[in-house]
Amino acid sequence: MLGIEGLSRLDMQLLLDMADEAVEVSRQVEKKKTTLRGRTQVNLFFEPSTRTQSSFEIAGKRLGADVMNMSVGSSSVKKGETLIDTAITLNAMRPDIIIVRHHQAGAVKLLAQKVECSVVNAGDGAHEHPTQALLDALTIRRRRGRIEGLVVAICGDILHSRVARSNIILLQALGARVRCIGPSTLLPAGIAGLGVEVFTSMREGLAGADIIMMLRLQRERMNGSFVPSVKEYFRFFGLDEEKLSYAKPDALVMHPGPMNRGVEIASDVADGAQSLIREQVEMGVAVRMAVLEALARHLPNS
Ligand code: CP
Repeated sequence: MLGIEGLSRLDMQLLLDMADEAVEVSRQVEKKKTTLRGRTQVNLFFEPSTRTQSSFEIAGKRLGADVMNMSVGSSSVKKGETLIDTAITLNAMRPDIIIVRHHQAGAVKLLAQKVECSVVNAGDGAHEHPTQALLDALTIRRRRGRIEGLVVAICGDILHSRVARSNIILLQALGARVRCIGPSTLLPAGIAGLGVEVFTSMREGLAGADIIMMLRLQRERMNGSFVPSVKEYFRFFGLDEEKLSYAKPDALVMHPGPMNRGVEIASDVADGAQSLIREQVEMGVAVRMAVLEALARHLPNS
């Protein structure tokens, strides 16, 4: 599961249907299933994470897997061991599934070529974050009953966002109209080639939007490039009540997290009645259960 790119529309719908079932399992008192009993899942995160790592751990445990969170900060990566040598070393321990987050685009695919088990991309550089896009789609579908025909505005630092890229591919495949809004310095060259409408004004881009997806300003990836001032950025691109009023009256607000309150989103909007942000976190566990269950069908001796 290296990206949304390469999945068919049927794959996407099947994963969302499986995730719907996982929501029901997760809401029961007894949450344990046996799908991954006897299997070993390794979470290998080279970048910080709160939501993705913990939800993959919970998802694996709910499905009965033995889950090992590898602490990269105290591993031999710190002594100079390469990604490939780390992968070969872990592979020798015979895991069934490795979940990987890495700061470089393409690193997860490279690792997948060196191991014999299933690999899931938990975010690689600015490339893809497939399970985030799936949980976003699940959240929208459960709340709106459909994705087809909805206008989804993805706003902010599109340039550095793997979430934006995966969502653009997934939401368009499922029939949404996707808009990208941001300062021209944070819009990737050729973004219009992905079939989205592009805006540099929140007022114009949010007009008629059903869903507003805010993105974090990824200052840690802006080495050497233009870094906007927080005050200016919030004034023009931060989602506050006034900018929210440009969208449809019942527009829903999303954010993959982590949020920087007062930078890309105002606290009253993030915590307001139109916000789906906490629901997104719940859907994260369900989607990760669905992805692990789908992979389990392809594990040897399944
Ligand atoms: N949305 C997301 O990937 O959050 P984390 O970085 O906390 O995993």
